Amino acid sequence: MKLTVVALDGPSASGKSSTGKAVAQALGFKHLDSGALYRAITLVAIGLREDDGLAIVGGCESRSLHLAPLGSEIVPYLDGEPVSDQIRSPAVTRDVSQVSALPEVRRWVTAELRLAVSKLGCGVVVDGRDIGTAVFPKAPLKIYLVAEPLVRARRRMRQGGRGESGPKDLTLEAERLRARDEADSSREVAPLRPAPDAVHIDTTHLAFQDQVARVVDLARKVLG
Ligand code: CDP
Repeated sequence: MKLTVVALDGPSASGKSSTGKAVAQALGFKHLDSGALYRAITLVAIGLREDDGLAIVGGCESRSLHLAPLGSEIVPYLDGEPVSDQIRSPAVTRDVSQVSALPEVRRWVTAELRLAVSKLGCGVVVDGRDIGTAVFPKAPLKIYLVAEPLVRARRRMRQGGRGESGPKDLTLEAERLRARDEADSSREVAPLRPAPDAVHIDTTHLAFQDQVARVVDLARKVLG
């Protein structure tokens, strides 16, 4: 399989990661959740009590933060181990938009994403906020997933398995998602927005398997 990138962008809890994983599996591709790398950097920043971009990047390098395969996923490794549960903590979720708005952090992540994908030599579904606009602007298929805020909040609260804790209050969860989307959309570098040639899919009324099937069909058409 030649190197092919499917870019899957959209706001918080729009279903990018779960859709990306299932689409990758159906196509025999790898899956890379770029948000996991921003979360891992935020974990490092919190440990350092640092909000300077260069210092945060330096801290990440000294702990050998990098992306590498783990089964069919490409995941962040910190100090030689894959990181998963820790990067879903409420503290990381609270700070991640602020850390990911730092230009030095975005430059570092963009380079790491491109490097990890270039090493694969196979197709990959990459999900995030700026994959189609900034990281892989030449991707042959770009998808922008959206869903109504309350539906996204309900889905996120059901996602206990991702390690998110916190109040089981739908309105509060919707407000948190809204605040993070606003921060991600209004930052100066690579804000959350659809690429001009992205295919928009509203998943508000779609069953999970239908949204996966829609992306897989598009991929098969576009990628041949
Ligand atoms: O899963 P969820 O939608 O809650 O977020 P995520 O994909 O884990 O991403 C966490 C945060 O990382 C986002 O709120 C953005 O601030 C940042 N991010 C980004 O700026 N650019 C990306 N390509 C991916 C994530």
